[in-house]
Amino acid sequence: MSSSPLNLTLTLSLLLTFLSPLLTDAHRCSQGFITEMNKINVTQNCRRKALSLGVQFGWNFDQKSRQLDIAFGSRLDTETGWLAWGVNPQGLRMVGTRALIGIRQHNGSLEWDKYNITDDTKRGCRLLPSDDIGLDVRNFSFVYWEGIDYYVVLATIFLPHEYNYSRTNVVWQVGEAVAGRTPLVHSKSLNHFDAAETIDLVSEKVISYSAHNQRRLRTTHGILNIVGWGTLLPVGVIFARYFKKFPMEWEWWFRFHVMCQTAGYILGTIGWIIGIWLGNASKYYCFRTHRILGVLVFTFTTVQMFALRLKPRWSDEYRAYWNMYHHALGYAMLTLISINMFEGIKIMEPNHAWKWAYIGVLGALGVVAISFEIYTWIKFIFVKAPAKTIRESGSIDKNEPRLDGLT
Ligand code: HEM
Ligand code: HEM
Ligand code: HEM
Ligand SMILES: *[C@@H]1O[C@H](CO)[C@@H](O)[C@H](O)[C@H]1NC(C)=O
Ligand SMILES: *[C@@H]1O[C@H](CO)[C@@H](O)[C@H](O)[C@H]1NC(C)=O
Ligand SMILES: *[C@@H]1O[C@H](CO)[C@@H](O)[C@H](O)[C@H]1NC(C)=O
Ligand SMILES: *[C@@H]1O[C@H](CO)[C@@H](O)[C@H](O)[C@H]1NC(C)=O
Ligand SMILES: *[C@@H]1O[C@H](CO)[C@@H](O)[C@H](O)[C@H]1NC(C)=O
Repeated sequence: MSSSPLNLTLTLSLLLTFLSPLLTDAHRCSQGFITEMNKINVTQNCRRKALSLGVQFGWNFDQKSRQLDIAFGSRLDTETGWLAWGVNPQGLRMVGTRALIGIRQHNGSLEWDKYNITDDTKRGCRLLPSDDIGLDVRNFSFVYWEGIDYYVVLATIFLPHEYNYSRTNVVWQVGEAVAGRTPLVHSKSLNHFDAAETIDLVSEKVISYSAHNQRRLRTTHGILNIVGWGTLLPVGVIFARYFKKFPMEWEWWFRFHVMCQTAGYILGTIGWIIGIWLGNASKYYCFRTHRILGVLVFTFTTVQMFALRLKPRWSDEYRAYWNMYHHALGYAMLTLISINMFEGIKIMEPNHAWKWAYIGVLGALGVVAISFEIYTWIKFIFVKAPAKTIRESGSIDKNEPRLDGLT
């Protein structure tokens, strides 16, 4: 069983190596982008979002005239695509944003227009261009910078007085599908939701970013859940399944099962609470499937933990039923947990480190379980199962002593 601690340290170090570049912000624009911007005289400020969609945003702002020249660029790797930049006087969110959107069509032609993004957009109504988005926009265009393979929204805006230039909510987005002049919905993973920040246009200071405080907590949530629900619980089950009596008898199996399940439950629960907190902290979006499955996992593993107090003795006649129920619920939970892991990992796309780390854990557990399973069958066929039934043997009761006293 030495593979489980090894497995755990491996996972942790894997995660840390993959995540460390994402935990440090690289805010400066790329040299190629800066060179291109200098050609159009946008030279004052430039920011690159390290995590969210790899966009780069350069601008000049003049306090007196309130003239804002922007160059907002991103790669568009799919056949059709759109790139949006906007400001939102109402808050740090999508609804209410006045957006300039550039669209690349199938045939490669580029189009651009102004859009009011409203509640209806979020509900799925067609997003149509508006002549009036409440902004004075001049020299708006959408161009391709061949040298660095970037698509760029260029515009000059005279910022109305309802916008405070020292705390402007800038919102952006990148999407793939389009229908004529209508951009269709963007992906719904976190990096597409972490696409808004309040900045001071003069000093370039970030006043708030929709994801800043949460990055570390998300990582903690993922690791705790993978270690707790995803590793310790299955390891505990492997002990209960293969070391109880057949194919191997080990008198510590029960203590080990309880220890693993309790430790896994505690770590998992801390991770779960962090998840709930994160979900409540993100006001404008939610991940319904992940949340529902998460609540189910927590509820039923809690029920499973009642085994600590409510387990009948081996001599009780309900014991056979209790076993069936504990097995069924236990295996159902392991299934639900691994489904929800992939749901959680989908939220973090396109960061593949999570997927491979968890697949590594699953693979290691799978190899161990399959080996024991094969061993069980070989032993069953060639050595034969013990003649006495487990109940008669009585040795099991001896191996689960302490907790029985509680019931
Ligand atoms: C079985 C294991 C897991 C359980 C029980 C679980 C549970 C939860 C719950 C209940 C929430 C709150 C959702 C909401 O209210 O919107 C949540 C959020 C979240 N989960 Fe998990 N989770 C698990 C695994 C993972 C994994 C493996 C990852 C990724 C590596 C992950 C990433 C996230 C993220 C990023 C959020 C926050 C989303 C936001 O900012 O709103 N989860 N999780
Ligand atoms: C093309 C039509 C669009 C549709 C149908 C659409 C739909 C959605 C939906 C349904 C959500 C919330 C997902 C959830 O709660 O699970 C969302 C979030 C978001 N969208 Fe869009 N969106 C569109 C265009 C845009 C554009 C053009 C921008 C940027 C200018 C944008 C920026 C955002 C941001 C920042 C979020 C994060 C949550 C929030 O701030 O409300 N979206 N979008
Ligand atoms: C969330 C926590 C738990 C899960 C997911 C879980 C899961 C399981 C599973 C799937 C098995 C069947 C293994 C097999 O195939 O033979 C099992 C067996 C067992 N578990 Fe748990 N368990 C948990 C907690 C506990 C606790 C806290 C106790 C005791 C206080 C306990 C006591 C037992 C016993 C006695 C067996 C052996 C049943 C038998 O086959 O006779 N379990 N557990
Ligand atoms: C940029 O500024 C220089 C010097 O002021 C000027 O000669 C040039 O025409 C400007 N270029 C553009 C694209 O406005
Ligand atoms: C490309 O397609 C759009 C409509 O999808 C059309 O308006 C435009 O004229 C086409 N451009 C070229 C160069 O064919
Ligand atoms: C877009 O928003 C502006 C500013 O609030 C408003 O004046 C205008 O009527 C809106 N246009 C449409 C088509 O909703
Ligand atoms: C828009 O572009 C034209 C020609 O390129 C230029 O003369 C004009 O000054 C620009 N307007 C603004 C507001 O930058
Ligand atoms: C704009 O925001 C700054 C910084 O928060 C604040 O000090 C200033 O009073 C605000 N100005 C207006 C006109 O609201």
